[in-house]
Amino acid sequence: MPQLSDATRGRVLLGGDYNPEQWPEETWYDDVRLMKDAGVNSVTVGVFSWARLEPRPGVHDFGWLDRLLDLVHGHGIGVVLATPTAAPPPWLGRLHPDTLPVDEDGRTEWWGGRQHFSHSSATYRRHAAAITEALAARYGGHPALTMWHINNEYCTYDHGDEAAARFRGWLRDRYGTLDALNTAWGTAFWSQGYGDWEEILPSRRAHYLKNPTQVLDFRRFTSDMLLECYTAERDIVRRHTPHIPVTTNFMPLWFGQDAWRWAGEEDVVSVDLYPDPRDPYGAQEGALVQDLTRSQARGPWMLMEQATGAVGWRDVDQPKPRGLNRLWSLQAVARGADAVCYFQWRRSRQGAEKFHSAMLGHAGEHGRVFQEVKRLGADLATLGPRVSGTRIEADVAVLHDWHSWWAGTQEARPFAHADLPVVLRAWHRALWEAHLTTDFAHPTHDLSRYRLVAVPQLYLLTDAAVDNLLAYVHGGGTLVCGFLTGIADEDDRVRPGGMDARLRGLFGIRTLHEWWPLPAGGTVPCDGFRGTLWSEELEADGTADETVPYRGGELDGLPAVLGKGRAWYLSTLPEPEALRTLLTRIAEGAGVRPVLDGLPDGVEAVRRGDALFLLNHGRDEVTVDVPGTHRDLLTGEVADGSVVLGRYGVAVLSS
Ligand code: GLA
Repeated sequence: MPQLSDATRGRVLLGGDYNPEQWPEETWYDDVRLMKDAGVNSVTVGVFSWARLEPRPGVHDFGWLDRLLDLVHGHGIGVVLATPTAAPPPWLGRLHPDTLPVDEDGRTEWWGGRQHFSHSSATYRRHAAAITEALAARYGGHPALTMWHINNEYCTYDHGDEAAARFRGWLRDRYGTLDALNTAWGTAFWSQGYGDWEEILPSRRAHYLKNPTQVLDFRRFTSDMLLECYTAERDIVRRHTPHIPVTTNFMPLWFGQDAWRWAGEEDVVSVDLYPDPRDPYGAQEGALVQDLTRSQARGPWMLMEQATGAVGWRDVDQPKPRGLNRLWSLQAVARGADAVCYFQWRRSRQGAEKFHSAMLGHAGEHGRVFQEVKRLGADLATLGPRVSGTRIEADVAVLHDWHSWWAGTQEARPFAHADLPVVLRAWHRALWEAHLTTDFAHPTHDLSRYRLVAVPQLYLLTDAAVDNLLAYVHGGGTLVCGFLTGIADEDDRVRPGGMDARLRGLFGIRTLHEWWPLPAGGTVPCDGFRGTLWSEELEADGTADETVPYRGGELDGLPAVLGKGRAWYLSTLPEPEALRTLLTRIAEGAGVRPVLDGLPDGVEAVRRGDALFLLNHGRDEVTVDVPGTHRDLLTGEVADGSVVLGRYGVAVLSS
C-alpha cells in the first residue's frame, strides 16, 4: 500500500489548499514565485472546483488545471489533487433535486454554500464517480501528482426518503429480522414496535424524546454512508494509480465519523486543526487532536489544514500573535506530523471565507504572516531529513470510541454537563501537563504494549471491549477508568446492576446505588481534593487496596476513588491539579516516566525518533535543564546541560 512517505520523500511537506481558479492566471506566476520563496513543496488543488471542471453535465474544462499542474510541477511543487465532490455545481441540484440533503425537519439544503449533497443519493454518487473517473484518467500519470484528497471534511446528514430507504437496507444487514431490530431498539417502550420495514424512518423530528437506539443506529448509518461515498471515489483513483496514496481530511474530534474505521480505509490519515489562539488551552487542544490522529494513522500523519491566523467564523476572531503559528506547526511535527499545510495559500478577496487568514494574506509578501511562513519553511527544510518518517513511543493509551460517544450523547440523560469531550479533554490535559506521552486507542485494540490505559469515559462498552480491558489488566497492565464507563451494551441497553458486573468486580464495587450529577460549576468535597461534574453513591465490596472517600454531604464516607491492584476507578472528575496528581501517581506505579523531569510551566516536551522537541507555550523566556550535551537541530547550536527558550520558542535537540 502506498503511504505518506511516498509523498514526503524524506521531507516534511509545507503547503496548503490552493484555489487558483479564484485568480487571474497572471497571479499564478506570482504564486509559484512566492511558494518557492517560502519553501512550499505541496499544494492541494481542486477541493471545490467541480463547477469549473464540469461547467455543464458531462462537459469538462481541464485546460486551466493542465496549465496549473504543469506550472507548479515546473517549480518542483507536488500536488495533492482533490476530487471536488464536496461542492456539487448548481446544475446538479437543479437537474437532480434528489441529490440535495434533507434535514430532520424535512427542509432541503440548497446549493449556494457547500456540502449540499445527499450521501444516499444514487444520482449524486453516479456524478461524483464520473468526475472522479475523469480526473483520475486525466491526471493519474501527471508527474506533479503526489496524493489524492477525496472530497472534504465529510460531515453531512440526510433524513430524506432515499436516505430512509438506505437506512432500512442498512438495518436489514445489521439485524436480519424485524424481531431482532425491535429487541435491540427496545420498541416495547412507547408503542414503537415495527411490523414492516417500510415503517422505519431516519431520525426525523419527533414530538418528544426519540428512541435512543434508533438515533444511535442512525449515527452509525450516517458514518457508514459517508464512508461508502469515500471508498467509492478512493477505489476509482486507486484503480488508476495504485501507487499514489489516498486521504480524506478529518475534522478534529468530529462527532459524525467513526474515525477509527475510516482511518483503516485511508493510506494517509489527515486532519484539519483550528485551535483558537485566544484559548489558554489551545496548545493542549492541538496536542489532543495530534495524538488522536497519529494513533489513527499508526505513524506519521498529515496536518491538512490549519490557519495562520483568524478563521472568519469566531465571534472574537483574533490572529495568531507573532510566533504562535510556528510554535503550533512545530508542535504538530513533534507529535508526528510529516506535513504542515494550511487553508489556504492565498487569502481570497471574495466569497464566504475572504476573512479567513492564509499563508499569503491580504497584506501580501511583506506582511508579517507571510514572513513567518517563510521562517517556518526554513525550519521545516532543516528538520525534514531528520524527523520525517520517525515515530513516537507512548507508554500511555487513552481510549476513545465514537459509538460510545454517539450512545452517550442523547436526550433525556442525567449527565448533560458531563459530556464526553469535556471529560476527555480534562483527562488528556492532565496527562499532557504531566508530560506523559499519550496515544489514543479503541477499546478493542491490542493494548498490551501500553503500561497504562486511561478511560476517561466509555459509556457504551461491547462485550468484546470489556473482555479486552479485563485481559489487559490480567496481563499486567494498569487501567484507570472514569465514571459513566461500562453502563450500556452495544444496543445502548443498560447493563444489569447499572454498570458492567465484571468491571465492578475489577474495581471492588459491590453496588452502584445512584448517580449524583453535579450542577454546572458545582463541586463535591473529597479527601484531599474537590470533585467536579459528577459523583456516585457507591458501595465498595471491601476488596479495594485504596479508597479515597467523599467528605461531607450526602455521600460522606463513600468511595470517590477506588484502587484495586492495577485497576482504578474515579467516580468524579477531580479538579485539574488533583486529576494530574492522581494520574501521575497511578502512572508512576505503572512504571511510566515523564518525557523530562523538572520542566518549567508551559513547556511541552516530546520525543520523536531521536529528537527531543522542547516547546515554550509561554511568552516569557525560560531555561530548560536537559542533562547532557545536545545540538539544536534548528539552530545548530550546542546545548550543554540547559537550553533557553524565548517567547513561543522551540528547540529540537538531537541526542
Ligand atoms: C475547513 C475546510 C476549508 C475551510 C476551512 C476554514 O477546514 O475544509 O475548506 O473552509 O475549514 O476554516
